[in-house]
Amino acid sequence: MSRITAAERAAMAHARELALRGPRGVNPQVGAVLLSSDGRTLAEGFHRGAGTAHAEVDALSKLAPGEARGATAVVTLEPCNHTGRTGPCAVALLDAGVARVVYAAADPGDASSGGSERLRAAGVEVDRLDVAEGEALIADWLFVQRTGRPRVTIKWAQSLDGRAAAADGSSRWITGAEARAHVHRERSAHDAIAVGTGTVLADDPKLTARIEGEPHAPQPIPVVFGSREIPDAAAVRQHPKPLRTAGHELERELRALAADGIQTLYVEGGPTLASGFIRAGLADRFTIYLAPTLLGGPRTALDDLGVESIDEQRRLTVARLEQLGRDLLVEATTESEQ
Ligand SMILES: NC(=O)c1ccc[n+]([C@@H]2O[C@H](COP(=O)([O-])OP(=O)(O)OC[C@H]3O[C@@H](n4cnc5c(N)ncnc54)[C@H](OP(=O)(O)O)[C@@H]3O)[C@@H](O)[C@H]2O)c1
Repeated sequence: MSRITAAERAAMAHARELALRGPRGVNPQVGAVLLSSDGRTLAEGFHRGAGTAHAEVDALSKLAPGEARGATAVVTLEPCNHTGRTGPCAVALLDAGVARVVYAAADPGDASSGGSERLRAAGVEVDRLDVAEGEALIADWLFVQRTGRPRVTIKWAQSLDGRAAAADGSSRWITGAEARAHVHRERSAHDAIAVGTGTVLADDPKLTARIEGEPHAPQPIPVVFGSREIPDAAAVRQHPKPLRTAGHELERELRALAADGIQTLYVEGGPTLASGFIRAGLADRFTIYLAPTLLGGPRTALDDLGVESIDEQRRLTVARLEQLGRDLLVEATTESEQ
């Protein structure tokens, strides 16, 4: 029989909500609730970003000395076991006299994991609850911990015959309003948005997220890859977030983005940059908008992917198919993402 109480289940659900009040960045979003032995909420806390108190310590700071003695700490992430800019949370919980800890996701860090063992060794009861929900809450952060780079979505819109633009380079608008609205929601759901200089010079995109013409928070950070000059009058320079520029070494550039807390990148093209990401094995998810139109000609949606022979093809798995007005959205992932 599970020893998890109804109060602990409710506290964990609330801790997940608290976690989301913290910012996305180099540190995970974490929430914590402290319960008395009879299940009352004593205090709650969340992590407000790198260099600030961890969620458990934030919650403990709201109590008088001795008030947490015998309490249960319900935390979305395993209490850490290392001294970074803040001390180990496992020790803070021990020092406060917490008797029981219930956590969801395990801490994957080489240096920071081991908090639960340390607590158990000191006689604290430790249990886990809602593991999948806890991991889903910080899935992008966990991806960065595992790979050292943001999760990359590649987006493009194409005619049914696989063209991204007409022969003269014009590509507005292949798809209809519903598909374009979907793109804007995707922009807002990513931490950063990337295009190559070719797209900036051809289309002058704003790279903002807009719903029915109005800005839609949160806005992704705009990133332009390439060495060509971005004109002073380029619309992307008016973006509410400061423009970042990046070079050709995609892996290195992605690591730099991750170091600045960018967990997800939405690559909006064009074909040259998108193909570069795919060729380098740096594409995780694809959102491909298929418009029922034919363009023919040389402007294919992707260029060389380094596939010389059919056994080198880049196989994808379709995760979702959706009709958006007259267009179709195909969402796919690389097989390594399964
Ligand atoms: N249908 C769609 O979804 C869609 C989306 C976007 C664009 N488009 C269309 O695509 C056309 C522009 O395409 P494009 O291919 O010229 O533009 P692009 O992919 O946006 O830009 C290409 C440039 O990206 C830079 N770059 C930086 N790192 C790179 C790397 N590792 N690999 C490759 N490129 C890298 C290079 O810039 P430097 O040369 O400056 O170094 C390169 O010339 C336009 O006609 C636009 O309308 C269509």
